[in-house]
Amino acid sequence: MCGIFACISKDNKTAVKVINGLKKLEYRGYDSWGISYKNANGINVVKEVGKISAFDPEEANFADSNVAIAHTRWATHGGVEVRNAHPHLNKENTIAVVHNGIIENYIELKNELIKKGYEFKSDTDTEVIVQMIDSYMDFGFEKAIEKTVARFEGRFAIVVIDKNADEIIACRRGSPLILGVGKEETFIASDIPAFLSHTNVVNYIDDDEMVKITSSERHFYSLRTGDEIQKRDIQIEWNIEDAEKGDFTHFMLKEIFDQKETVQRAVDQSDEEIMAVAEKIKKSKGVFFVGCGTAGKVAKAGEYFFAHVAKRHVNFAPASEFPLFHNFLLPETLVFAISQSGETADVLEALEVAQKAGSTVFSLTNVVGSSIARKSDISLFIKAGPEKAVASTKAATSQLALLLLIAYAVAGKLEEGKKLLLEISSNVNDLLNPRFVAHTESVAKKIAHKDNLFIIGKGVNYPMAEESAIKIQEVSQIHAEGFAGGELKHGPIAMIEEGTPCLVLVGDDESKQEIVSNAIELKSRGAMIIGIASEKHDCFDEFIRVPESGVASCITNLIPIQLLSFYLGVERGLDPDMPRNLAKSVTVK
Ligand code: G6P
Repeated sequence: MCGIFACISKDNKTAVKVINGLKKLEYRGYDSWGISYKNANGINVVKEVGKISAFDPEEANFADSNVAIAHTRWATHGGVEVRNAHPHLNKENTIAVVHNGIIENYIELKNELIKKGYEFKSDTDTEVIVQMIDSYMDFGFEKAIEKTVARFEGRFAIVVIDKNADEIIACRRGSPLILGVGKEETFIASDIPAFLSHTNVVNYIDDDEMVKITSSERHFYSLRTGDEIQKRDIQIEWNIEDAEKGDFTHFMLKEIFDQKETVQRAVDQSDEEIMAVAEKIKKSKGVFFVGCGTAGKVAKAGEYFFAHVAKRHVNFAPASEFPLFHNFLLPETLVFAISQSGETADVLEALEVAQKAGSTVFSLTNVVGSSIARKSDISLFIKAGPEKAVASTKAATSQLALLLLIAYAVAGKLEEGKKLLLEISSNVNDLLNPRFVAHTESVAKKIAHKDNLFIIGKGVNYPMAEESAIKIQEVSQIHAEGFAGGELKHGPIAMIEEGTPCLVLVGDDESKQEIVSNAIELKSRGAMIIGIASEKHDCFDEFIRVPESGVASCITNLIPIQLLSFYLGVERGLDPDMPRNLAKSVTVK
């Protein structure tokens, strides 16, 4: 949700460098983009509505500059217009700011500034930041920023330049910012891929910290105490290829194929660590799984894994709803957050609520050093490599695999779990063959013109039916809804007409017979049944065969769903990597 990238360098081609890096963050927002770069003439600004990927910086003839800040926007406050695009500047064009987050009290601050005579050109909360810094500039650049952020309520990551200062200053609370240590240049970005072609050495900036950088120096301060903070250089393991599309047309397709390896990587964890997590779960009084979007559906699947494999009751709550359950939180409660990015604002808030009650917090994320991972008492990583398509694919199957392994560990059957998941990983690898992909594409072609689509599942495939609906909605914009099969006759069946496509996710467990009966009920109302199952059934009009996978059928069933969503999007002329109105990492509530 909004991408920030900034660079200060000894070389004077920072504008081009920053634009190229910003393109790697396009998945965070693609409503508009903008850059400010500094040279002897002052601060120059270029802003455009639309995607940064369409812009060629080599043709832009940027003037030489060794300091640049840039931003790709996912609009929250103010429509998609050039005047609302970042960076925002003060009246004299001497200070420029980019921002990710929401300043919740911006209206109050804006009114205060208007009374002081400030005029506003945009509808954003971000313009308040730059005008407020301007209003405090008598205290000096750095102090002005400190005084400004001290007034904010909400979450923010901001990067600021001043025409008269040879440095970049950044601060954060709640929204991500990572510093990249280059050779005679320093970077600040919302995510690592922005600077990965220049360096893999990073410093994590924590909440309520400020950093001042030049091309060769970086100084960190606490915004609470003003004290200087020492940071460790951390070498991260991602390489440039991991963050690129390679020969694939889209990130989504590449990431679907990455699952040939990622399921196995997710469960390749140390036994000690998994057993430590399992023991803590066993000793806890109440476990909550929380997450948003796809990660939320995985968390919901966790309820079934624990019921069947670990024979333990756990609760699921969408992270945004979780704070309403605060009365049930005890110091012995365990809250387990699932998040690909590790930066989702609703999840962070859920963890804050849990920590306030003294509860223990565990997390399962994909990004080492992410805010959620660092807030957690124990953090596990799915090791899926960067996931850049907005629609989550490989992260979901990796999360499912690791959660299932934990359920086996809680049941005292870690080895059994490992054996099953090894098989599943090889099943996924086998599934992703050209014939299977072509068959799924052909099914997508048959239904791409439909307006409505329904998905049913039972047991652990019920949350997967909901996940399927999310995938199809976001990538293809077909109206899709996922249900528990048994719920159909209580309302949704009224929507079924002759030819309405219905996807049926069949599990390899005791739910099999019932979900097939539900499919027959749909068929008798005229539905076109697309069965995703390990066995063919007469009621299927189209059949997508997946290998028999026992309690892990939810993982194998997701593979054709992901491919189907991708090809539905392509058939409908959409860009599967950048769904309308969405952002990859939702760092605002
Ligand atoms: C956004 C993305 C989804 C993702 C959700 C949770 O809505 O578009 O794909 O599932 O955030 O993200 P997280 O990083 O916490 O898993």
